[in-house]
Amino acid sequence: MQTAHELFLHELTDMLDAERKLVDALGEQAENASNPQLQKALTAHQAQTEKQVQRLEQVFESLEEQPEETECKGIKGLIEEYQSFAEEDPAEDILDVFSIGAAMKVEAYEINAYEGLIRLAREMGHNKAVKLLQQNLKEEQATWKKMEGFSKKIKPEQMGMEEEEGEEEPSRSRGRSGRAA
Ligand SMILES: [Fe+2]
Repeated sequence: MQTAHELFLHELTDMLDAERKLVDALGEQAENASNPQLQKALTAHQAQTEKQVQRLEQVFESLEEQPEETECKGIKGLIEEYQSFAEEDPAEDILDVFSIGAAMKVEAYEINAYEGLIRLAREMGHNKAVKLLQQNLKEEQATWKKMEGFSKKIKPEQMGMEEEEGEEEPSRSRGRSGRAA
């Protein structure tokens, strides 16, 4: 690889695969969500992600290029993290909290990826691509904000520290002083 154009196409292809993978992943995460508002938000973002795929396809068209077969390993890893956590049979509220965090990690990845793509597109004067990518970026930023809002509202039901208040004796023997001795 030698040119900015090749790098741009590589990064663009990566994001196309990422968004396609996320369409399926968001459907699964919405199905697993217990909080109805979170479920609605994930379903809405799934529909939005389908549009983002179309915009990326339009970017390829505007450049008269074809996407190659490739895999976005970053997003694949984040999706797999979610799946292995969900398989561990977490409590409903804990899975919701995890989902919100997982969504924010994905959005952070995408925001940075789109910012990089926009920078390259600008430098090369691909104005149509800049516009399309900016639309995707705006949506990812809005989704990140929305998920940040959920992270403040949806909390784990049990903090898991009750025994330390009630059972002084056993917790003391298992406590820091015990380990230090
Ligand atoms: Fe996206």
